[in-house]
Amino acid sequence: MNILRADNYDQLSKIAASKIIEKVRANPKATIGLATGSTPIGVYKLLIEDHKTNGTTYKQVSTVNLDEYIGISRDDPNSYHYFMREQLFNHIDIPLEQTYIPNGMAEDFLLECTRFESVIHELGGVDVQLLGIGQNGHIGFNEPGTSFKSRTHVVTLAESTRKANSRFFPSLDDVPTHAITMGIATIMDSKEIILLASGASKAKAIARLVHGEVDEDFPASALKLHKNVTIIADIAALQLV
Ligand code: PGA
Repeated sequence: MNILRADNYDQLSKIAASKIIEKVRANPKATIGLATGSTPIGVYKLLIEDHKTNGTTYKQVSTVNLDEYIGISRDDPNSYHYFMREQLFNHIDIPLEQTYIPNGMAEDFLLECTRFESVIHELGGVDVQLLGIGQNGHIGFNEPGTSFKSRTHVVTLAESTRKANSRFFPSLDDVPTHAITMGIATIMDSKEIILLASGASKAKAIARLVHGEVDEDFPASALKLHKNVTIIADIAALQLV
């Protein structure tokens, strides 16, 4: 794993955005894996800025997202569909039909998981996958204990994850209990992975990722088995490394 040290969140966002822009310019038909959460918002702002200023085009790009809550409709402001449209898709020239996010309102979730895996396969795999990391080491919504062999599946969210995400909801009770997420094996199939971490709340997780064992109790540790992973983290997130 390659570690890039950023002075602060803005610099972290710049480094990550320029890697994605470079990828899209080199391969206008690239498949980019995207993440939600607070951390990638700065990256998305810079992609939009670059699209408007330098004309980087996403007309032929496809995107796949890591996860979605179950039971929240795509037009609900707390859905990841909504988040992606607001934070990125509505502000660049990507056709929405080339953006793939698991359907949290599917009638048949087993079918939805298989469908999502097929989408990724038909796109030829993910060229570069952006990831955040949970304080408990989750990637996507793969909580501690998830098999490294897992493909897209339905998960019960850890209480700590629901608490961390309750900041976006009126109350903890409103946070969904389940989600659908790419599995760890799905994430590991990505040709390249960029993991972002910002702030002191991620310091323990980053230290464990860098120095700890490969262990299913710490999902991000699977990344140590991948050949092309870059961690882009700021000083606060790297303080225990
Ligand atoms: P965050 O979420 O970017 O909001 O910290 C990351 C995650 O939980 O994977």
